[in-house]
Amino acid sequence: MDFELKTLSLAGAVSEKTDALVVLVPLAWKPGKGLLDGLIADAMKSGDLELKPGKLLKLWRAAGMAAPRVVLAGAGDGSAKQARQAVIAAVGSLKGGPAQRVTLCFGSGISAEVLRASVLAVAEASYVYTTTKSKPEGRKLSHVTLGVLSADGLQGAFDEAKATVDGIEFAKEWANRPGNHSTPTMLGEAAKSLAKGSKLIKCEVLGPKEVARLGMGSFISVAQGSEEELRFIVLRYDGAPARGKAAAAAPTLLVGKGITFDTGGISIKPAAEMDEMKFDMCGAASVLGVFRALAELKPAINVVGLIPSCENMPDGRSVKPGDVVTSMSGQTIENLNTDAEGRLILCDALTYAERFKPRAVVDIATLTGACVIALGAVRSGLFSNDDALAKGLQDAGEAALDPCWRMPLDEDYAESLKSNFADVANVGGRAGGAITAAKFLQRFAGKFPWAHLDIAGTAWKGGAAKGATGRPVGLLLTYLLAQQPPRLATRPAVRRK
Ligand code: BES
Ligand code: MN
Ligand code: ZN
Repeated sequence: MDFELKTLSLAGAVSEKTDALVVLVPLAWKPGKGLLDGLIADAMKSGDLELKPGKLLKLWRAAGMAAPRVVLAGAGDGSAKQARQAVIAAVGSLKGGPAQRVTLCFGSGISAEVLRASVLAVAEASYVYTTTKSKPEGRKLSHVTLGVLSADGLQGAFDEAKATVDGIEFAKEWANRPGNHSTPTMLGEAAKSLAKGSKLIKCEVLGPKEVARLGMGSFISVAQGSEEELRFIVLRYDGAPARGKAAAAAPTLLVGKGITFDTGGISIKPAAEMDEMKFDMCGAASVLGVFRALAELKPAINVVGLIPSCENMPDGRSVKPGDVVTSMSGQTIENLNTDAEGRLILCDALTYAERFKPRAVVDIATLTGACVIALGAVRSGLFSNDDALAKGLQDAGEAALDPCWRMPLDEDYAESLKSNFADVANVGGRAGGAITAAKFLQRFAGKFPWAHLDIAGTAWKGGAAKGATGRPVGLLLTYLLAQQPPRLATRPAVRRK
């Protein structure tokens, strides 16, 4: 989908040639003199247009308007959050209809945050998955113009938003693909394709032999019940490499859980909704999505992506409840429930992370059903051993409308992970399940500032709207872009005489 930013007033929008004109009207809107201003003011007076976010008035061939379809959309308080709701309702109401070119304009001046939220919302409302349909009916919407009163100072936010959309859609694509169309091998190929498309990205994909040589006994134990070979994907984005005497900036690491299908293994899951466990690689997909966006934005930072990927299957060769395995860190782990596999593949990736001397490590995982119970689908769970890192991620989540909520890591929660036969067990009881999972991971993250995002509730939607959300690509990108060294202020060139 093409996005275009241009200067457009409501008076100018009257003659805008487009299939559909969407006008966002916030509560603070003041009518000007034009035809469209009059139309909006009349519709409000008659009570046909309400300005609550999500309220719409759709017009067909309104007199004097060049666009055949006009959608007036209440934008509430005009905040990024309510603008997002308005755009999703308005563009959603056009989905499946004939409109291919849409112009979205604003009744008043907007901030960079509102522009960003609007671009993301257009993409969200018009997204269609097609890869495994025999008669792919793709997205109709092909060109979207964002008309703003003044484009001054908005171009940067606009470019960032477009790259974020590409990252989110890359993540959604891989997350939505069924397990037989997104195997660990295929994820490895997807990562390699990102490196092909960018000089700043390098990719290495390790197979079973290399992973065995590294001593990743915990990761291997999860993969051993599957016919599909495991992959360990290492992505590097070097936007701030060593220059002259300046050493390369320490990288931020993203570690994504890449279970391409989670049956539960020998501790098998019930049949209902088990199909949704194809989404158990949403953490991995979000890492791929972030790299897709980095390739486009080229920020001056260094990022490493690590993706341990395999299936969790029941088989004669599967790891069994009670088995003890040795992780790459040397710690032994008693597997008391083979369905708690995410932490078993992540712990070895966290140990591997040490070699990059990271400034911070963030793992992203659809880790626990308990997190869905705790926080629902609104906020991702955030756990961290470092307050500054936690704050950075929390702030990024708020700014990106991709929020998270910090959860505790008191040592008392680790009690239930004690084992009589190994250094640690992979499960505690049912109580505080999202926290005990994080406590398990924390044991392997002692050597760097670390955060864990449990995205089990936020990464996909079930039911009729079943599909990946692309979260938390927005949060992660916003966090990473804030790590850029401040750009030197551009001063007007002063000529010395
Ligand atoms: N991938 C699941 C977590 C999950 C379950 C995410 C449901 C979203 C919806 C994970 O591997 C898992 O099965 N976790 C277990 C842990 C338990 C055995 C301690 C869970 O949450 O039930
Ligand atoms: Mn599981
Ligand atoms: Zn899982």
